[in-house]
Amino acid sequence: MALRTLAQAHGTPLFVYSKAAMLHALAAYQRGFAGRNAQICYGMKANSTLGILQVFAAAGCGFDIVSSGELARVVAAGGDVKKVIFSGVGKTRVEMRGALTAGIGCFNVESEAELDVLSEVALELGLRAPVSIRVNPNVDPKTHPYISTGLKGNKFGVAHSDALRVYRHAASLPGLNVVGIDCHIGSQITEVTPYLDAMDRVLDLVDAIEAAGIPIAHIDFGGGLGIDYHGDTPPAADQLWRQLFAKIDARSHSGKKIMIEPGRSLVGNAGVCVSEVIYLKPGEQKNFCIIDAAMNDLPRPALYQAFHAIVPVSITNKTAATYDVVGPVCESGDWLGRDRELNVAAGDFVAVLSSGAYCMSMASNYNTRGRAAELLVDGDAVRVIRQRETVQDQMRGEQLV
Ligand code: LLP
Repeated sequence: MALRTLAQAHGTPLFVYSKAAMLHALAAYQRGFAGRNAQICYGMKANSTLGILQVFAAAGCGFDIVSSGELARVVAAGGDVKKVIFSGVGKTRVEMRGALTAGIGCFNVESEAELDVLSEVALELGLRAPVSIRVNPNVDPKTHPYISTGLKGNKFGVAHSDALRVYRHAASLPGLNVVGIDCHIGSQITEVTPYLDAMDRVLDLVDAIEAAGIPIAHIDFGGGLGIDYHGDTPPAADQLWRQLFAKIDARSHSGKKIMIEPGRSLVGNAGVCVSEVIYLKPGEQKNFCIIDAAMNDLPRPALYQAFHAIVPVSITNKTAATYDVVGPVCESGDWLGRDRELNVAAGDFVAVLSSGAYCMSMASNYNTRGRAAELLVDGDAVRVIRQRETVQDQMRGEQLV
């Protein structure tokens, strides 16, 4: 169905996702993992809308979660709790208790303090928590500094040089059951080398940890594979994994289960955000194309200077001009695209591309703007997977003094 028709029927801003595109992206990983003992855990922070989770759950995916809220979403979407891994540097006791009681597959622990607390919480429940320790391989993923996580000096993981000692400590705690090793080096990675280097560093540790008598059953290699926003050329997931498995096999670790946590690469290019042009505003230095989507719907340009292609939804014969595409939010940082050539008029629709990942899941209510509606297109079927948020929805829970 035409985006224009959907926008007219459901209003704008409107996120539209393609189920086929999501499954197509997943298939590249599945090809890479064919014949292997492997588990794909969708990094659901990229897009945690229930209808999206349902698609991945039905396709056999587990989930990488970072909060008890995300666990509740997995359950609500019918996901398999045993295939859930819990990442993040700040898990609370309450969150640990909930995840242990639910019976999740593994905790990716990020510090010694967290190991101690998790062991205590598990013992209180008469359980043993399955754990991996997230190690920091200290390789440069060559991506935006805000989304680079595997270098020394950021808050994630345990230093490579300290990992063996921390593993020994974990193995000594009565409430823990050490099952794996974990790493995640960053996001929107478009090169193979950082992954190959990280795998080498992780396998070095696996050798050392096993030599110390602590068996490692799985390697969780995180997510991070990039997508094409603007001529980016990330490796295909199956190609990347062919090279990674060559390394794993060459170093005699073929028997280990492989887990991954891809987010963006599964959904990023499966979604667009359709928005209406409200005004064209010519200026002395710049022309502005003011649309009804804003930084609260699409925060990536304001946060990371990220590029999203913006295209008219219908081809028109108007004269093109160069615009900064901006939203109605009262901030100069509220821009969605700079110096874009567009042939549009007020009332036309534009689509902001590559909006499936880290857009709705990072959306806010700034300026008391309701969050957009979301549709999932599945062949000829169009399903509303999130209704447009009303101002009443936004004020729920607030009280006058
Ligand atoms: N696993 C862990 C432990 C993570 O921290 C992340 C993302 C993922 C998996 C999924 O990574 P992906 O495959 O999506 O790259 N908001 C930023 C991206 C933040 C990524 C945070 N961690 C953006 O819009 O670019």
